[in-house]
Amino acid sequence: MYLQRRNRILRQSPAIRAMVAESILTPNDFIVPLFIDEGENVKTQIASMPGYYRNSLDITVKEVKEMWAMGLKSILIFVKSKDELKDNTGKEAWNKDGLMQRSIKAIKDAVPEMYIMTDVALDPYSSYGHDGIVKDGEIVNDETVEALVKMSISHAEAGADMVAPSDMMDGRIGAIRKGLEESGFTKTGIMAYSAKYASCFYGPFRDALDSAPGFGDKKTYQMDYSNRIEAIKEALMDVEEGADIVMVKPGLPYLDIVREVKNAVTVPVSVYNISGEYAMIKAAAEKGWINEDKAILETLTSFKRAGADLIATYFAKDAVKLLS
Ligand code: PBG
Repeated sequence: MYLQRRNRILRQSPAIRAMVAESILTPNDFIVPLFIDEGENVKTQIASMPGYYRNSLDITVKEVKEMWAMGLKSILIFVKSKDELKDNTGKEAWNKDGLMQRSIKAIKDAVPEMYIMTDVALDPYSSYGHDGIVKDGEIVNDETVEALVKMSISHAEAGADMVAPSDMMDGRIGAIRKGLEESGFTKTGIMAYSAKYASCFYGPFRDALDSAPGFGDKKTYQMDYSNRIEAIKEALMDVEEGADIVMVKPGLPYLDIVREVKNAVTVPVSVYNISGEYAMIKAAAEKGWINEDKAILETLTSFKRAGADLIATYFAKDAVKLLS
């Protein structure tokens, strides 16, 4: 058989495959989500996230030191707030001595180079488990945005490098940018969860923070998974309002959206390989149905191929070990 072109030539050996690989993972790609708890020497495995823990601050600081030593460059902090601190204003979110603020300071003190991103949304502080303030059964937009601005400024004050609003209220990126500017935080970045979909795959995360909505669902603020063009609208608006990085979330069921957004914007794009995606790989691997290590690298590489510049993932440490 005579063939002018044989595509298998470039797949012949590990060397040539590595030479022509289009998407490459490196430790610089990863953002490590951390769940932080009150107390000392507390390490709680999250039931629906085998191998992932909610740690007290002392343990977290040790972990972050190790992560930095491994080559990981950034973390994304979530805290589990005590029930008695939850209310419908979310005011604990901007308490300067709150767990989030203490965590930012302690981690910055211990590992100053680690790039600290923080979750901005009211759900861990809300007695209703919603990302915003509730009035007559509705999650009200504008009052919530005022709260998110206070929350963001308090994170910046504590030393956060970048705030990451995950709430999906309208106009919050512009308002947070204005708040940061007016308070003199001209070096604090904003990573906007721009295309965040109302997803069933957040379940394990809500276990981790005990933050499941007390009534209804999040469909009046998070996006409908039927929609694609709307994601571009959200991302473009967030860039216009001052986002430094835009995010797509969840990851795996939304690779098409990652590519769409990547093609539409000129800022870096991140993707969140969320808790339910982690749980699926872990569960299948536990049953011996897939090879966990291979599944991790294939999944993470698919994000790069789709166009993601950064990947928030619970597999960050595993991936760095597998890559080295
Ligand atoms: C809430 C928030 C959620 C996640 C990050 N921030 C859950 C939700 O919107 O209910 C999910 C992350 C994950 O599932 O890994 N502001």
